[in-house]
Amino acid sequence: MPEKLFHNGYGYFNESGDEYVITRPDTPCPWVNVISNGIYGLIISQAGSGYSWREHATLNRITRWEQDLIKDQWGKYLYLRDNATGRYWSVCWQPVRRQPERYQCRHGLGYTIISSLQEGIEASATFFVPVDDPLEIWIVRLRNLSSSTRHLSLFTYLEWLLGVAPDWHREFHKCFFETEFQESLGGMIVRKHLWDLPGSQWNRSWGYVAFLTSSPPPGGFDCDKEAFLGRYPYGSLVSPRAVVEGSNLQSMGRGVDAVGCLRVDIELAPGEEKGVVFRLGAVEEPVEAGRLTAKYGDLQAAETALTTARCFWRELLSPLQVKTPDLAFDILNNWWLKYQAISGRLWGRTGYYQPGGAFGFRDQLQDSQVFLLINRPELTLKQIRLHARHQYRSGTVQHWWHPLSEMGAVTESSDDLLWLPFVFIAYLKETADFSALDVVEPYLDGGEGTLYEHCVRAINYVLSKLSPRGIPLIRGGDWNDGMNATGLQNKGESIWLGHLLHWILVEFAYLATKKGDWELGTRYRTQADRLKEALNRHGWDGEWYIRATDDRGTVLGSKTSSEGKIFLNPQTWAVLAGVAPPERARTAMDSVERLLEWDYGPLLFWPPYTRVIPSIGYLTRYAPGTRENGGVYTHAATWAILAECQLRHAEAAYRLYCKINPIRRGQDPELYRVEPYVTSGSVNGPHSLHPGQGGWTWYTGSATWLLKAGIEGILGLRPTYAGLVIDPCMPPEWEKVKVRRHFREAVYEIEIENPHHTGQGIAGVWVDGNPQEDNLIPAFADGGVHKIRVILGPTKKKPHAY
Ligand code: GLC
Repeated sequence: MPEKLFHNGYGYFNESGDEYVITRPDTPCPWVNVISNGIYGLIISQAGSGYSWREHATLNRITRWEQDLIKDQWGKYLYLRDNATGRYWSVCWQPVRRQPERYQCRHGLGYTIISSLQEGIEASATFFVPVDDPLEIWIVRLRNLSSSTRHLSLFTYLEWLLGVAPDWHREFHKCFFETEFQESLGGMIVRKHLWDLPGSQWNRSWGYVAFLTSSPPPGGFDCDKEAFLGRYPYGSLVSPRAVVEGSNLQSMGRGVDAVGCLRVDIELAPGEEKGVVFRLGAVEEPVEAGRLTAKYGDLQAAETALTTARCFWRELLSPLQVKTPDLAFDILNNWWLKYQAISGRLWGRTGYYQPGGAFGFRDQLQDSQVFLLINRPELTLKQIRLHARHQYRSGTVQHWWHPLSEMGAVTESSDDLLWLPFVFIAYLKETADFSALDVVEPYLDGGEGTLYEHCVRAINYVLSKLSPRGIPLIRGGDWNDGMNATGLQNKGESIWLGHLLHWILVEFAYLATKKGDWELGTRYRTQADRLKEALNRHGWDGEWYIRATDDRGTVLGSKTSSEGKIFLNPQTWAVLAGVAPPERARTAMDSVERLLEWDYGPLLFWPPYTRVIPSIGYLTRYAPGTRENGGVYTHAATWAILAECQLRHAEAAYRLYCKINPIRRGQDPELYRVEPYVTSGSVNGPHSLHPGQGGWTWYTGSATWLLKAGIEGILGLRPTYAGLVIDPCMPPEWEKVKVRRHFREAVYEIEIENPHHTGQGIAGVWVDGNPQEDNLIPAFADGGVHKIRVILGPTKKKPHAY
């Protein structure tokens, strides 16, 4: 029997950890998969609900969906009807919701397979997106386990949206649909003669053609919702007329409430199995619908495409693999964090909790660091270049922008622009590709500059917005979007932003000098020193750093504050950015452990705000203890792990890691409730109505950062310009760890032994059997595989650390 890992009563991981198997449809919340190839994407829950999009999940949604996570009743559905008895059910639980005899939903990397057994028919539906075409494919297999021949009909059902979601004025939108069944195509073509993209002229058609086709070809169809469901007020998704009666009205035309119903009739002898392939997509030209239908023309072609997609994901994620004594740690790092970051955050940019599609300036930049860890730095550079193109000559940037409409917003957010140099530096440390400094990109308002210049403009802009005390102004909020009113009058300051700026000034000074820009290098170094001095003079509250001051000079995050006494980010970043002197660094993190850490991780701040304070911003409007109002904000919690590692608090780092590890949290599904295989954006804090409940899964910047916390913090593999530093800070009880990581055109097979149970310190390092001077492993860049052996223990010589 294959082992069921981390079984929690609802599901478990398969033996290799790359598939999550849900065994019943009634999980405490929708447990979904976000599958995207960068152009086309779909999201599907364990019950079979969800939606599809092309390029932008909100501005270009293909199928209708409503954000009702309690009901989860919008999706693309499959009905099965036994034509002898007239009984019917749905393959994936929704929407008929009859209790199946057996049910299984397997969410994997790039695919979901839902199978069920009802009425003697074993059905399985595989949903996936081929590697580089704008469509999804469903492979449905039906097997007759009964002893008589069965005459079945398989119906699809979905509502076409074709444009901007939600199309709340439905009677209006309906007037623009054109549906057409094409026998030669084996399915339907749907157009919409209106696309109300925000910021553009309404008088235009949806820029694509949607199609839904099947093999074998359908025996019936409906393109009109009323024809399929039945007349008002009796039609419903639980008992649609076409399925109840077993026949279609073959409706099509213009001005219908457009749906996609194809009926495929199947006869199955006892024991016989047959397969049906459906293709659903959006293409620029109608001929493409035919081409893609032919390309994925039968079961075999569809199965081959599925294998290709599965191999694609495994190969993409494989370059980094770890084996530690903590299986939950390994499963996250080997597969799910990377998959979540790429499929969910970077390519799909959407989830159930936040249906999106836009790019956030700071969000996807940070996410794109994931590619550095899997030997695809060119994709990080691509992201850096994309974001550089959303910067103005002044150095400011768009807080977010929409692909397709290219609409963007400049806000008063004060930190966005600094993530450009932050991620660029990470890219350079991974690759040492200094030629990238000279890559040219345009500014949004004309002119162009090298990436180096783009970064300098960003830094200089922040430097031009310092308070009289020399601390950056918080303006319309920094990393914490919810502090959007704290400094609107250009007086309030951000201590956290000061820390981030300090890190950037120090790092960029090095780059400037390397480039021969001595004057800038010196200036940035001087400014870094001055900033550090100001932050320590005005930011220290006695036992921790304050968070900010508002426009009236009120301090946020001080022992004198009644709510919001201590915030997490200014403590973690004082350490990470090298602002805090050693004694303060320790005291600040001790305060974090004492006042912010609770059962499910470190809170973003404590206590939460219980009344609305408009002058701080909308974070005070959230229910106390949720999201940015003092919940565990996972993105920020990952920085606490890194800060503990930097201070060599191995035990604390790992304890925090375990507390926010969704696999461990998922062991208590009635409390945690959300998916155990991806990170949640936040977990409700002790002051909330449902302490410990997770939320906002998938669409969270915590995936990449938790990966970094595990690999660069706990396992201590950190790229530097000079090479790869190996400097673990792992639990003292771990005996041995293996890591396979690519670094600059070579593969490093690393074995870390911990015979003295220190979990840190470097007693010896060997490369390909040869003893090394220290723990800085050079870049071999020879395309080879190198064996690195590290023995932890008391250190004779000071190792390379931070
Ligand atoms: C959301 C935003 C992110 C921000 C965070 C904290 O996740 O997408 O940019 O940093 O909230 O407010």
